Amino acid sequence: MAKAAARFVCQSCGAVTSKWSGRCEACGEWNSVAEEAPLSQGPSGKTLGQSRGRTLPLSDLSAKEAPPPRTACRIDELDRVLGGGLVPASAVLVGGDPGIGKSTLLLQGAAAFARAGLKVVYISGEEASAQVRLRAQRLGLQDAPVQLATETNLRNILTTLDEHRPDLAIVDSIQTMWADNVDSAPGSVSQVRASAHELTTFAKRTGSSVVMVGHVTKDGQIAGPRVVEHMVDTVLYFEGERGHQFRILRSVKNRFGPADEIGVFEMTGGGLAEVTNPSALFLSERGEPSPGSVVFAGIEGTRPVLVEFQALVAPTPHSQPRRSVVGWDGSRLAMILAVLESRCGIPFSGLDVYLNVAGGLRVSEPAADLAVAAALLSAREDVSLPPETVVFGEISLSGALRPVSQSENRLKEAQKLGFSTAILPKGGKPGSAGDMTLSLMGDLTTFVGDVFGA
Ligand code: TYD
Ligand code: MG
Repeated sequence: MAKAAARFVCQSCGAVTSKWSGRCEACGEWNSVAEEAPLSQGPSGKTLGQSRGRTLPLSDLSAKEAPPPRTACRIDELDRVLGGGLVPASAVLVGGDPGIGKSTLLLQGAAAFARAGLKVVYISGEEASAQVRLRAQRLGLQDAPVQLATETNLRNILTTLDEHRPDLAIVDSIQTMWADNVDSAPGSVSQVRASAHELTTFAKRTGSSVVMVGHVTKDGQIAGPRVVEHMVDTVLYFEGERGHQFRILRSVKNRFGPADEIGVFEMTGGGLAEVTNPSALFLSERGEPSPGSVVFAGIEGTRPVLVEFQALVAPTPHSQPRRSVVGWDGSRLAMILAVLESRCGIPFSGLDVYLNVAGGLRVSEPAADLAVAAALLSAREDVSLPPETVVFGEISLSGALRPVSQSENRLKEAQKLGFSTAILPKGGKPGSAGDMTLSLMGDLTTFVGDVFGA
């Protein structure tokens, strides 16, 4: 049998090469390339396997094997992000910074799913069972019918799971798992990939759902790069700012529901509490209208959410002015500054610009463009926007304002929270605006003139 070609894989970025080198050519990491056993070949070196897969007409499948119903755990913020509950045989990855609250969330989830009638096994590779029990006690969950195991050897875990056949297995975390047939340290790309692959296969084969915890690296990737994300059905990120108690669970990929859905939680002394009205929470710290503060009516997933953008513009002591952003895209900010400068003649050179989304939410909608421009102008001109006003709309490079989706839902939410005026692009179809006063703008220059008299 012909010897299979060796395969070298970078443990940092997952790049595959045919020869070893001291430095990965793809990511530049030193000493990260390691040999991996190639995928076993078919009989006598042929690539065909012995067993032939069976195929079925799609129509047969849909008639006979209707998908089993989802299970909701009644933590609504979690159920919604999962797409309406947990789907049997699904593999879910929950990523987040260390210490953000993943273990807390999953322990509460485990208890909730167990109380909803699922058989749940919680496998902790990070904490001793006494630690997990202590945490459960603190969360008031010590009586929940959850089976607990502390184990890192993947083979033992699969044996345990095969024996218990739980409806839901939670593995905390994928970086601590260790497959004995892979020759590298736990947490390396090959270990993470092998463990995620085995656990996902287990889910598909047995119908158990598997939820894996993954730590995020400095550069914001789930360690063991994107390899795990491709394998699983659903990828959720648990985000939040360190100084804030708010936590946001966001679905970035979901084969069984809408992506970009968010669930909002608050970290309390007794664990994570659901936040059913995030807009009220994100606006709770807002005082009187002040220069630089603008309320944006946004949409996160299927839900309207109101957030406050805060800007500070000040003369810079440096030759290169600062551009600092928290919760919004830095290059999008540069674009808006450029449009304000070249289309409206309002320069920001020689001025430091700081932009912040209050409450720790990360906004990615281009619909926030107009709110960002409004906050920047309001800070620069030292003029507050009229009170009880929300702003939304996309800005194009020409300085024109583009209508955005779901205007009606945005306006409804604003009205519910006591706002009376909205500034938005002309041409959108707001449908019924209720009692809101609408200020429709065609382009950024009109907006600047009307609102700031500049
Ligand atoms: P943890 O779930 O261990 O984070 P992760 O698994 O993502 O690393 O959460 C750790 C933080 O949460 C820790 O700083 C303490 C805080 N916490 C609370 O504030 N209240 C609680 O009830 C619990 C259990 C944790
Ligand atoms: Mg943890």
